[in-house]
Amino acid sequence: MHEAAATAAQVKAATTAEPLFLRACRGEAVERTPVWIMRQAGRYLPEYRAIRERHEFLTCCRTPEIACEITLQPIARLGVDAAILFSDILVPLPGMGVDVRFEPGPRLDRSVRTAADVATLRVPDPGEHTGYVMDAVRLVRRELPAGVPLIGFAGAPFTMAAYLVEGGGSRTFTALRGLLHREPATLHGLLRVCADTVAAYLREQVLAGAQAAMLFDTWAGLLSPRDVREFVVPYARHVFEAVRTAAGLEAVRAIYYAGESAGWIEACRDTGAGVIGVDWRLNLEAARARVGRDRVLQGNLDPSVLLGPPDRIRERTRDVLEAARGAEGRPGMGSRGHIFNLGHGILPETPPEHARLVVDTVRELSGGAS
Ligand code: CP3
Repeated sequence: MHEAAATAAQVKAATTAEPLFLRACRGEAVERTPVWIMRQAGRYLPEYRAIRERHEFLTCCRTPEIACEITLQPIARLGVDAAILFSDILVPLPGMGVDVRFEPGPRLDRSVRTAADVATLRVPDPGEHTGYVMDAVRLVRRELPAGVPLIGFAGAPFTMAAYLVEGGGSRTFTALRGLLHREPATLHGLLRVCADTVAAYLREQVLAGAQAAMLFDTWAGLLSPRDVREFVVPYARHVFEAVRTAAGLEAVRAIYYAGESAGWIEACRDTGAGVIGVDWRLNLEAARARVGRDRVLQGNLDPSVLLGPPDRIRERTRDVLEAARGAEGRPGMGSRGHIFNLGHGILPETPPEHARLVVDTVRELSGGAS
């Protein structure tokens, strides 16, 4: 009888417990380190390429059934602890009044470089212009296995502005960086429109069911620490505040990732995100010393390690886990304050079984039984 009662209680605990990833995002001590991979739904997967042979990239983003299918592809194959919605950071641009194509890099139909250009932009209603994203979120939530939460995402205001000023991708982003020093007020005006757009868009994803909200600030690393504090952090903060203050959304986990942030990683605290992404140029022990103990770090295996042989992948995965533990812990004893990820998106050349090996290695070394 005792046994039966214990089993029922265990079952109840297992089915009502918050997913591992969300508990870890809150900074709780967890049974093992959760793991997912930036850009885990995408071109390194043959099943993604098979869908892309039949449909354009933007068609995939705009068709909830296809976006849902691609979102789910890496979940079973890799065994990751979180799903990230299949979409793109530039999806809100048409609603703002700027069309975008992927060739495969993004090409905008115009650039935004003057105050008059900024005045032509709209803050779109996310339900009206990107309702398909919200439908995809709802669909994915229905289809995901229990225990695997969904991360909604958007481009951070600065990175959105970077694409708008350049009119596409760039190696140097000199139009953006010139504007910043020539006409800072114009760039601030653009950043305000981007921040309001992204805030409404990410908030809507959360209302549709996304359990975590992530901002990608890929190009923030172009700037000096001083300019990051002026042009990057306040706008990312505005987005997270909007997401958080929406009624009943306090429980949503905020994740902020910036590329090449080693020069100013402590500034990421001021975005208000509880989880801070770290790229591989900064060791996690050093990141911890600068960020403090009250934030969770996410990262930071160099994606190119996955192009190497299995022994090397295991060794470097172990190194990241050990750096995350600092001097305190030993492997196999659970974890706190760390979510395993790559330091940037997975490379399209990666063999999928190498991604699986990373996930399996994290599970084995950080947990024990499972
Ligand atoms: O699995 C996931 O992470 C979800 C999907 C996702 C995509 N883009 C799909 C995509 C996410 C989270 C993004 C974010 C994104 N998009 C970022 C920030 C993250 C980062 O890597 O820094 C940026 C800068 C973009 C802009 C973008 N979209 C570029 C530069 C390109 C072309 C080159 C590239 O990186 O792939 C895209 C296209 C894109 N977005 C593809 C995918 C799967 C490839 C399109 C194709 O199938 O041809």
